[in-house]
Amino acid sequence: MTDAQFRGLLRQTRRIHGWFSAEAARLFVWIDEIQRQNGVKGGLFEIGVHHGKSAALLGALAARDGERFGACDLFEDQQANTSISGHGDRQIFESNMRRIHADSLDLRVFAKPSAELDPEEIEPIRFFHVDGGHSRDEALGDLRLASRCLVPLGVAVVDDAFRVEWPGVTEALYEFLAENPEYVAVASGFNKAVLCSRDAACMLAQEFDREDARNAKGLGYPIHLKRASFGGWEMRVFHVPAFVSEPGLVPRLRHFYRSHPVLQSVLLRPAVKAAKGVLKRS
Ligand SMILES: C[S@@+](CC[C@H](N)C(=O)[O-])C[C@H]1O[C@@H](n2cnc3c(N)ncnc32)[C@H](O)[C@@H]1O
Repeated sequence: MTDAQFRGLLRQTRRIHGWFSAEAARLFVWIDEIQRQNGVKGGLFEIGVHHGKSAALLGALAARDGERFGACDLFEDQQANTSISGHGDRQIFESNMRRIHADSLDLRVFAKPSAELDPEEIEPIRFFHVDGGHSRDEALGDLRLASRCLVPLGVAVVDDAFRVEWPGVTEALYEFLAENPEYVAVASGFNKAVLCSRDAACMLAQEFDREDARNAKGLGYPIHLKRASFGGWEMRVFHVPAFVSEPGLVPRLRHFYRSHPVLQSVLLRPAVKAAKGVLKRS
């Protein structure tokens, strides 16, 4: 997808109600590109479409090569939405998908609880977005289903994986990784965690680690990439550090001090102490 196409899609989806940032969309597009460069083929699937904000992008990625996009939601059966995450509406969803994709998309809708999905009715998937029920049982069930549908270099992306409001999703992620040691959380950021096999993780991490590639994909400064061990893998964490996101002189100076070891020399200690005193009083 070219940058112009991406921006066009962002414009078209801006007014769709939902929970899907432009940065998360950029990450999805990048993963899609890496998969294509490595010859990974398969359908795309989403559990939890709400009004279609993320589905519109996944649909666009699927439509490029005539791949199928599967969408599952409870829609009008909201009494089954036990974790009260979002509120799907089939009419709004379908009208948004029609407006953006017209007839170019092979869309298959599953209007039922994801627990009733049978892997047999889903084709092999290369990109599976888990954004439905947010309890431990729902998210774990969805991750298990995703792992049964994924092609070898496929990815499952989980929403709200490390969010304080949704500890059940974190619990599900951790349990899933414990019972599937062949999987790792290769990356996290923009409220998403990306899970895949170790082979797929190497393929993705190699690209994520390239600063020039991050810049080219629109995920460069102020976004930083750091490594943090999670479940036995050096997860790549996309984040905006506090010294950038918190306006103000003190966080910036603190960062500058910490990232320049020369300032920590014994000789400069009195000067640093005096500067700290001034900042404390100000
Ligand atoms: C957080 S919203 C999805 C947000 C959407 N992906 C977006 O881009 O804005 C969660 C959706 O999952 C649906 N849902 C909740 N529990 C579900 C379940 N057990 N099975 C299928 N869908 C479910 C809700 O109806 C809601 O539309």
